[in-house]
Amino acid sequence: MALNFDPYVERRHTDSDKWHKYEGKEIIPLWVADSDFKSPPAVIDALQKRVAHGVFGYGFPSPELKDVFIQRMKQRYQWEVKPEWLVFLPGMVCGLNLSIRALTTPEQGSIAPHPIYPPFMKSARSADRHQISAPVKLQNKRWVLDLDAAEQQLSGTERLLMLCNPHNPGGTVYRRSELLTQLDFAQRHNLIVCSDEIHCDLILEQGLEHIPFASLSEDAAQRSITLMAPSKTFNIAGLGATIAVIPNAVLRNRFTEARAGIIPSVDVLAYVAATAAYRDGEAWLQGQLNYLRENRDIVMERINAIAGLKLMPIEATYLAWIDASALQVANPHAFFEQAGVGLSPGSDFGNAQFVRLNFACHRDLLEKALTLMAKAVANLPVTD
Ligand SMILES: Cc1ncc(COP(=O)(O)O)c(C=O)c1O
Repeated sequence: MALNFDPYVERRHTDSDKWHKYEGKEIIPLWVADSDFKSPPAVIDALQKRVAHGVFGYGFPSPELKDVFIQRMKQRYQWEVKPEWLVFLPGMVCGLNLSIRALTTPEQGSIAPHPIYPPFMKSARSADRHQISAPVKLQNKRWVLDLDAAEQQLSGTERLLMLCNPHNPGGTVYRRSELLTQLDFAQRHNLIVCSDEIHCDLILEQGLEHIPFASLSEDAAQRSITLMAPSKTFNIAGLGATIAVIPNAVLRNRFTEARAGIIPSVDVLAYVAATAAYRDGEAWLQGQLNYLRENRDIVMERINAIAGLKLMPIEATYLAWIDASALQVANPHAFFEQAGVGLSPGSDFGNAQFVRLNFACHRDLLEKALTLMAKAVANLPVTD
């Protein structure tokens, strides 16, 4: 099957949140993490067939979806997952919130990386639970989690360690030795682990592999909730289907009890899309990864050529975490927006001197945005 990511897909004037934000403005939207690519043809076909049926009553996760997911875990990670461990949710963020609410009491807290995808912080805040920030620091040009720094802040009432692998916004793929350090930390402090692995299929650096936290050992499995989804991988984020893998029955019951009556089941079209994506999307995914790798290389080269901006190698995700601290501007996000490029503000993730750029878009659009960014910086008054 020929796969081509180059045809431009017009998303202006559609229901796209990403594009709607700047409707009527000359601003290129490179913020929220969805891609501008059409989903795999197999997903579109399956949805069309399902829509043609015309009846959209309550659904359930089919044995086929469970089986496709279980086979995927086995083939990719040599991780043996049992069907009864799977809990289906309409999104990842509700999984993060549920983990906080179901697995900690009001007196207990969590530990989360910092900077981090904002709902990690919001989920603790909205549940009125305390949260300790574990800094994500630069080490050999990689953004890595520093749990030693978090250790000094522990009060002894923390119950949950929240992980994000690959890391958003840093793009890090954690190595086995790093994951074992995270597991050791969880064991020493008697923590449950909620591992957000939504970006696990988007490994850009050749030779690296994703390792699910829960696959490290039986102990890791028993103390963890793994959140995975086909949404980023196959660009079906608007059809929310998340899979929480919870091997421990006690944790699973607490999780499912906390969702009852509050978090709805996954909608029938989302089940169809998820099944088709996981079952038939592999060739498309490989094509997408190649396109993303080239986009990443362009972003790396061009951003690092702009005086005042710095970007570390991106191992995974289609997100570039750009250090603008050397730029002589008060608010880098506002500065680039003014210049016609809509990025995610670093302040949302915990560092206002950064911006996050989503490069899962048509290459011409990316080049145009990078040119606008370079021009805007070149036009800044020179200070000494
Ligand atoms: C790390 C991470 N978790 C969760 C999500 C969102 O997942 P959902 O839209 O399914 O709630 C994102 C989206 O950008 C993400 O990057």
